[in-house]
Amino acid sequence: MNADQLIAAAKAVRERAHAPFSHFKVGCAIADEHGAIYTGCNIENATYGLTLCAERVAVFKAVSEGAGKLKRVAVVADTENPTPPCGACRQILWEFCGDAELILENLAGKRETLTIKQIFPRPFDASFL
Ligand code: THU
Repeated sequence: MNADQLIAAAKAVRERAHAPFSHFKVGCAIADEHGAIYTGCNIENATYGLTLCAERVAVFKAVSEGAGKLKRVAVVADTENPTPPCGACRQILWEFCGDAELILENLAGKRETLTIKQIFPRPFDASFL
């Protein structure tokens, strides 16, 4: 599973976003150690607060479907600069993906490749419990 394929999957699932309130569509695709891909789009709700981001949808789908170790995360949105995961998603990504590679891209093909740790440098996790 290369980065281009993962970005393509994120771009495709972004079209399924349920974003009638913000009109801000996001797609996320996550590859596991076996090369399987799990995708998610943002799903909004009329109560607003129950909205789920694309990243969390993808992570939760991966976990519930029995994915192996999650190795690479791609996020696509239609913004001038590639959109990074929100704070809540960073916590969830750290929990389930650890210091995985993170690829952000906008619809114009502007790409940034980072790690989860770079955008979430001092996480709270099970090591403190
Ligand atoms: N959103 C995501 O799905 N992922 C992000 O990384 C940032 C924000 C969604 C939540 C909401 O549906 C819309 O984008 C606007 O915040």
